[in-house]
Amino acid sequence: MKLFLLLLLVVTMAHGYNILCIQTVPSKSHFQLMKGIVDPLLKAGHQVTMITTFPDSKPEKNLKYVDVSRIQKIVPMNVDMMDHNKNQDIGYVKMLARNISRLAIETPAVREMLVNEQFDAVVSEWFFSDVDAGYAAVQQAPWILLSGIVMHYHIEYLVDTVRSVPTIPAFKNDASIPMDFHARLRNTFAYLFMTFGTLMDYSLEKSNYDTYFTPIANSRGVTLQPYHEALHNISIVFVNSHPSFAPAQSLPPNVIDIGGYHIPEYTPPLPKDLQDLLDSSGQGVVYFSMGSMMKSANMPEQVKKDLVSIFGELPYTVLWKFEDKLDNLPKNVHVRSWLPQTSILAHKNVKVFITHGGLLSTLESLKFGVPMIAIPVFGDQPSNAMRSVRAGHALMVAFATDMGRELKVALNEMLGNDSYYKRAKFLSKLFVNRPVTTTKLIQHYVELAIESRGAHHLRSKTHLYSWYQIWMLDQIGLLLLILYVIYKVFKKITSFFKKENVKEKQKIN
Ligand SMILES: *[C@@H]1O[C@H](CO)[C@@H](O)[C@H](O)[C@H]1NC(C)=O
Ligand SMILES: *[C@@H]1O[C@H](CO)[C@@H](O)[C@H](O)[C@H]1NC(C)=O
Ligand SMILES: *[C@@H]1O[C@H](CO)[C@@H](O)[C@H](O)[C@H]1NC(C)=O
Repeated sequence: MKLFLLLLLVVTMAHGYNILCIQTVPSKSHFQLMKGIVDPLLKAGHQVTMITTFPDSKPEKNLKYVDVSRIQKIVPMNVDMMDHNKNQDIGYVKMLARNISRLAIETPAVREMLVNEQFDAVVSEWFFSDVDAGYAAVQQAPWILLSGIVMHYHIEYLVDTVRSVPTIPAFKNDASIPMDFHARLRNTFAYLFMTFGTLMDYSLEKSNYDTYFTPIANSRGVTLQPYHEALHNISIVFVNSHPSFAPAQSLPPNVIDIGGYHIPEYTPPLPKDLQDLLDSSGQGVVYFSMGSMMKSANMPEQVKKDLVSIFGELPYTVLWKFEDKLDNLPKNVHVRSWLPQTSILAHKNVKVFITHGGLLSTLESLKFGVPMIAIPVFGDQPSNAMRSVRAGHALMVAFATDMGRELKVALNEMLGNDSYYKRAKFLSKLFVNRPVTTTKLIQHYVELAIESRGAHHLRSKTHLYSWYQIWMLDQIGLLLLILYVIYKVFKKITSFFKKENVKEKQKIN
């Protein structure tokens, strides 16, 4: 009996880890991103504490929420569709990110938990700030980083050296591969711009890190790891990407693509009324949603009117996610304030998805093989849209007050030419063709990070070297020196022989 209990203890200890997941960006899609990590961990029997801006009143078994929903009230995240310029300014986004980090760590419940509890691993999302490195540092536990967007220079810099500058188009560079000279030059400038920004913010981020986390480390009786080390002390990076979507690139083995992981493995059934509507729409369905952050109700009146009349003319059923009531709707247009997106996209009658081109929506359309008409507004939406257009399963329409006409052209093109549909189905095959599910990947790598005490064997070794060693400048220097010495010796010898020659000649004379 004793042995059995002991065995039971060992078994439960080996499986039930205590994991901290941090979600502080106050938007539903960021909640969805972190919950997509939390769920597989719960499923594997682990204990999860989730710092979140959207605490549910009734969390699932083994899940505990730490409420930071006050961030929602202080930090504005609603995007005004017609005035998105200020949201695109990287300086503004970084300030927003720093405010979010500060508000989270200043929450008393968060501080108490960090001081009093011991976690086996810490998962946080990268959002334009590195200060959150402190959570894993005070816990002295493996840090797992989640990138909600595809691979980019900054994550590359955190886990390795940045190698993609000459080969992979960066964030807003929509060039095709291989890049021409001009596109490569743009990449280099983007990289220099980022590096300059990182350098400029370094001392501020470092001082924030020290200010927020030193008191917590002191209360725990541990020394806080210096910022420049904590920053790169990353065990695993989960990237919301997949090679069927973003180009393959050379990365260390602790960077794991889990694109589409937020999509449930088994598509939930549609509500009865929607199921009936979609089933009876054999002629095809157009699904239109601009996501959760941009409210269609904030659209200018003219745009709404144009859309209603364009949709009304289509020989298809149109499902429109719209938060307000619309009067005089044509018979084929159905408006709901909420729609189960993945279940709709999974339906065989859905022919086109009109979207803002956010990454989550784009990945969902890839998974279910539904071609897109993207109307990108801000952030990574334009580059996602360009990527999809280039891949051949999407068309792009510029967001503007008179976009109705352009949208009509795009709809006619997409519904009259099946190349987009076929391409979407092909890419969908690539997208779902994986040796293991993302659920397994997430469970495996989090457990591996814990059990190997930091997955050091998977990490790039570049951070053990100085920049001139990585660029081999010291070796090139030595080579040049040797060449120089050889040249000098050679010159000495030839001039010696010349002199001898001269002497000889003089003797003869
Ligand atoms: C960040 O916080 C500061 C200080 O509370 C405030 O002045 C600023 O407007 C905030 N910025 C953003 C983008 O939230
Ligand atoms: C880096 O993280 C690991 C856990 O992954 C931790 O054990 C180690 O102490 C950290 N390194 C330093 C120098 O603190
Ligand atoms: C359909 O669209 C593809 C991609 O734009 C194009 O190459 C093809 O010529 C089009 N086919 C027709 C019949 O218009």
